Amino acid sequence: MTDTPAQRALAHPMSRMFPDGTGPAADPAGSHFERRIRSFQPRRSRVTTGQAEALRRRWADWGMDIDGQRVLDLDTMFGGLPVVLEIGFGMGEATAEMAAADPATGILAVDVHTPGQGNLLRLAEDRGLENIRVANGDAIILLREMLPAASLAGLRVYFPDPWPKARHHKRRLIQEEFLTLAAGRLRPGAVLHCATDWEPYAEQMLAELTAHPGYENTEPGGGYAPRPAFRPLTRFEGQGLDKGHVVHDLLFRKVSG
Ligand SMILES: C[S@@+](CC[C@H](N)C(=O)[O-])C[C@H]1O[C@@H](n2cnc3c(N)ncnc32)[C@H](O)[C@@H]1O
Repeated sequence: MTDTPAQRALAHPMSRMFPDGTGPAADPAGSHFERRIRSFQPRRSRVTTGQAEALRRRWADWGMDIDGQRVLDLDTMFGGLPVVLEIGFGMGEATAEMAAADPATGILAVDVHTPGQGNLLRLAEDRGLENIRVANGDAIILLREMLPAASLAGLRVYFPDPWPKARHHKRRLIQEEFLTLAAGRLRPGAVLHCATDWEPYAEQMLAELTAHPGYENTEPGGGYAPRPAFRPLTRFEGQGLDKGHVVHDLLFRKVSG
């Protein structure tokens, strides 16, 4: 039976990256069948040979599709390490950097972008990093369907798509509904760390996070935080800085209850 959107999508012959049925799925949760505003633009980008080879070698062990069909056992996936979720890692350079600097933390890195998934797997392999797993698909489905309550030791959202046009603001990831969903998956005391170079989005993040009862600002006086030393500059951030943008970090702690 191919009943659910995910089953229909996975049953499609083009659903997998490699013709032998391995690699990341093109549409793992069947999101084409689900009417929902998404925070990303599906794009077809060329996967380099190096990225494709890394996907072929590592996907079975270090990759997973966000199919929305099962709840993850993070202890088994990460050998008992505390796990931080990073949403939208892009090409993954900053993710690999942070994983190398902190091998006692597992990073569940999610993006829809296949070249980035291959790139991050290649970086992890080259640097011998055991604490990264790459999730393919929509982070909302991962949070909503696949992560247990209070399972995350942290959440990182670095330079989410700014969606500058007013008619696209509804696509922005950081808004009340997302914050409520994320609060349910974070352990009390876990930190949600956002960064953006888009001033109006920074203002929106600060307002939504400050108003949300699930979080408290780690900055004693309120407002933005200085960039913590553990967050490397990201690729997207570099592009923003080149344009003269100002970057804001926001670090909010999940409160108990
Ligand atoms: C502007 S890029 C920033 C990438 C990286 N963090 C950086 O700073 O260079 C935003 C990334 O988030 C990803 N993204 C947006 N919404 C997502 C979602 N709901 N689930 C997974 N990835 C998402 C996009 O595919 C894109 O790669």
